[in-house]
Amino acid sequence: MFDEYRRLLRVQRDSHLFREPEVIFNRQGKYVDSGNKRLINFASNDYLGLCSDKKIKQIFSKNFQKYPTSSSSSRVVCGNYSVVLQAEKNFADFFGYEDCLFFQSGFQANLALMSTIFLKDQNVLADKHIHASSIMGLKLGGVYFKTYNHNKISHLRKRLEKINGRFCWVITESLFSMDGDLLDWDNFFKLKEEVGFLSVVDEAHSLGAMGKDGRGITTGRSDIVVGTFTKAFGFFGAFILLPSIFKEYMFNFAAPLIYSTALPPAHAACAMDILDVVKELEDRRWYLQELSLFAREHLKAAGIPFVGESYILSIKIGDEALAQDISKELFNRGYMVFYSRYPTVPLGKSILRLSLCYFHTEKDIDKFIKNLQDVLFKYGILK
Ligand SMILES: Cc1ncc(COP(=O)(O)O)c(C=O)c1O
Repeated sequence: MFDEYRRLLRVQRDSHLFREPEVIFNRQGKYVDSGNKRLINFASNDYLGLCSDKKIKQIFSKNFQKYPTSSSSSRVVCGNYSVVLQAEKNFADFFGYEDCLFFQSGFQANLALMSTIFLKDQNVLADKHIHASSIMGLKLGGVYFKTYNHNKISHLRKRLEKINGRFCWVITESLFSMDGDLLDWDNFFKLKEEVGFLSVVDEAHSLGAMGKDGRGITTGRSDIVVGTFTKAFGFFGAFILLPSIFKEYMFNFAAPLIYSTALPPAHAACAMDILDVVKELEDRRWYLQELSLFAREHLKAAGIPFVGESYILSIKIGDEALAQDISKELFNRGYMVFYSRYPTVPLGKSILRLSLCYFHTEKDIDKFIKNLQDVLFKYGILK
């Protein structure tokens, strides 16, 4: 009965695409404990270092004492808890939008948004490297969309010329999750002004950790912005910043919102508290940028080819088996580094994805790069 599943898993393993995450039993600051090893964690998206903060945990536990621990139904079934509406208003006001809509995760937010708001006769263009959740949403909604070359605004222009002035949506990210490069926002918004398309920008990796007071890169300029609490905000859940009409529309037509139990109301209270904390962390944002610059300069000096313009840095490996071996060797040397393989990246284009956080020091990075260089020589990536 299970033979076909076993066969498919065997194919996955033989192709070096098998997913088998390490077991961890503790994660604190920049460290992660696995087996009898304490590793420096370069795989987490806790950019501002908030998710193990004692004070924040205390504030959060108070909220969970005060409110029910579950919302026990979808918002369209059991009502909109006032604290959720208040939190959504706070977020909309802070980021300069008419409205905001909370979701259980960034994945679900994109699934709901992308499957719902694009109407049948509308044109939709998307950057080739948008997140899987956006692609899944487009597929779920049966949306006919075309892609343009990653972050190539000149190619986006060509695609728009073909549309010939008809209405169009453009979907992109601000800080790309795998490549670590930043949206060419200046040219993107110049083109938007010139042509007049509507934009949806996924700011999962930049809200909270970039921009003034953590406002990200495109808020206020993009028509719709997707954010998550799961990265710089050190929490769970997600939010979409959007015009009120789309919130209303999604309450009526977005299946992932209508047919799913909402986040617990305590979450909304925590979201307001964490926003107040994040706004004030200018020093951490500044440190992260300085650290990222240090890492990039040192990678360059070590002759290690990479892409990335901020705290996400991507090192090209290629072969899946090689990426696995390199990551394992780094693990044995005391580092947790994510290696990304197909289908997250194209087949044969595996990468090591480094993410930096507030707790890393220049010394950590310096030591890590020496180890990385050594390992890359050993496996023939550096010659
Ligand atoms: C660009 C992007 N959007 C959305 C998501 C999904 O967010 P979440 O992890 O909150 O489901 C991710 C997750 O890694 C992401 O990288």
